[in-house]
Amino acid sequence: MAFTKYIVPALAFATVAFAQSSTSSASSSSTSSSSSSCPSTDSSGIYTIQNQGDADQLQDCSKLDGSVTIAANTAGNIAINGIQEITGNLTCYNSTGLTAITSDQLTTIGQYFHLEEITVLSNLQMNSLSSVNVINFVGLPNLQSLNFDTGVQEATGVRIVNTQLNSLAGIELSSVSAFEVTNNDYLSEINVNNLASVSSYLTLSANAADLEIEFPNLLTAANMTFRNISSLAIDSLANVTGALGCYSNTFKSFSAPNLTLVGNALVFDDNSDLTNISIPMLTNVGGGYQIANNTDLKIIDGFTKLQTVGGALDFSGAFTNVSLPALKDVKGGFNMQSTSTLDCSTFDSDHTSKIIKGTYVCEGTLAKAGTAGSTPTSTSSGSSSSSSSKSGAVSQAEMNMAAVGIFGAVAALFMI
Ligand SMILES: *[C@@H]1O[C@H](CO)[C@@H](O)[C@H](O)[C@H]1NC(C)=O
Ligand SMILES: *[C@@H]1O[C@H](CO)[C@@H](O)[C@H](O)[C@H]1NC(C)=O
Ligand SMILES: *[C@@H]1O[C@H](CO)[C@@H](O)[C@H](O)[C@H]1NC(C)=O
Ligand SMILES: *[C@@H]1O[C@H](CO)[C@@H](O)[C@H](O)[C@H]1NC(C)=O
Ligand SMILES: *[C@@H]1O[C@H](CO)[C@@H](O)[C@H](O)[C@H]1NC(C)=O
Ligand SMILES: *[C@@H]1O[C@H](CO)[C@@H](O)[C@H](O)[C@H]1NC(C)=O
Ligand SMILES: *[C@@H]1O[C@H](CO)[C@@H](O)[C@H](O)[C@H]1NC(C)=O
Ligand SMILES: *[C@@H]1O[C@H](CO)[C@@H](O)[C@H](O)[C@H]1NC(C)=O
Ligand SMILES: *[C@@H]1O[C@H](CO)[C@@H](O)[C@H](O)[C@H]1NC(C)=O
Repeated sequence: MAFTKYIVPALAFATVAFAQSSTSSASSSSTSSSSSSCPSTDSSGIYTIQNQGDADQLQDCSKLDGSVTIAANTAGNIAINGIQEITGNLTCYNSTGLTAITSDQLTTIGQYFHLEEITVLSNLQMNSLSSVNVINFVGLPNLQSLNFDTGVQEATGVRIVNTQLNSLAGIELSSVSAFEVTNNDYLSEINVNNLASVSSYLTLSANAADLEIEFPNLLTAANMTFRNISSLAIDSLANVTGALGCYSNTFKSFSAPNLTLVGNALVFDDNSDLTNISIPMLTNVGGGYQIANNTDLKIIDGFTKLQTVGGALDFSGAFTNVSLPALKDVKGGFNMQSTSTLDCSTFDSDHTSKIIKGTYVCEGTLAKAGTAGSTPTSTSSGSSSSSSSKSGAVSQAEMNMAAVGIFGAVAALFMI
């Protein structure tokens, strides 16, 4: 329900890292079971389980060349023991009776481990599972934990939406392409200790209001989106090659002490308790840089090394002090609007000296502070104006693009 808000149906973005997975899926799904002690699959390469007897047929099959589907009408506990590898998918959709899926020896699922709308599933116990191409768990309202005793160490994609999980223990990746965790109301802790790189995107939104996130070894990520989060620890993060967006979080401070580069947009919108943004090593923002609707943010001085902004710089709010002492080049427009008194003199000079090249607006003591493209709304008493406003609307479009792009990619990768 609520999560659909974030899945913008912009399917234009091609599947990034999953392209390789679907290629290999095509090659393996056409063959049928290879080992003689494996049950045969249907013409689509699928072996269907409807009861425990069907699952028992996999007892002596070490590797099934094909996919396994647990039929929707299957009830109770299904133990898929003996089998070690499924080259294709392990799936179950729309089941109202399945309460447990367990497996003692399954280590590898070559393609998708896709469980969707299984209302009473409360036990997912996979003692040996360590490698899955894509985990896609959607609508598992009674699942409170992933009992993956060995821990899944390899996956290119992980998507967890609408579950009752309270932690992601069992997901122990060191790298991932796409990682989306959305609408899990009980999820109050995410610590993927070994995660070092995210090559496509990381999207965490609308989980428990008190969600605390730790990625203590994360070095590099492409696009990152954080929504509705209460604390975030990303101290090792060095590079974000795509966009970094923080929306509607409740953390008081954002700190990325080792982050040097954001390749695309950098956005802080609607973080009601945010008082401090500190990215002291950041030198370069490749796209637009937006700060908007952070009501408690009064001082913006955590960007002591920021030199280049490839798009527009667009700050609006109630801040009293903004300091960007290292600024050398703002390629897009510049919009700075505050309802508090604001000293624009350094930015006026930056504009004069062509450090700021595009449309320039800098004004304080406004009745309303607007984003780029909006005309500053003065108080009736009037205010000092050093603006030359016109269309900085490019910047808003760019910010919207960043958001749509990220969610569009999510949709394209997982909504099959
Ligand atoms: C495996 O799952 C993927 C993604 O849902 C799907 O595209 C593919 O057709 C499935 N393969 C089989 C054999 O069902
Ligand atoms: C599950 O049920 C929904 C509607 O209840 C349907 O749209 C969807 O196609 C079903 N999924 C599968 C894989 O059967
Ligand atoms: C998350 O934030 C959005 C605004 O970005 C808000 O509409 C939504 O209600 C919040 N969801 C939760 C679960 O807090
Ligand atoms: C930050 O970078 C420095 C220099 O590369 C490194 O020594 C330090 O361990 C990093 N900090 C974290 C928390 O990873
Ligand atoms: C971060 O980007 C810089 C510049 O592109 C590069 O030199 C450095 O190796 C990158 N660091 C990581 C951890 O990817
Ligand atoms: C903001 O946070 C940084 C790093 O945590 C700290 O060094 C700095 O003093 C803080 N600034 C303000 C104004 O609180
Ligand atoms: C800021 O908040 C106002 C009022 O809720 C909303 O209309 C506007 O779209 C928000 N702007 C941004 C950039 O989040
Ligand atoms: C904020 O700016 C005012 C003048 O514009 C200055 O007096 C004050 O020292 C500044 N405060 C900080 C924390 O930079
Ligand atoms: C990151 O998001 C942008 C849209 O802002 C999109 O164009 C790009 O393909 C994404 N990059 C990756 C690696 O997902």
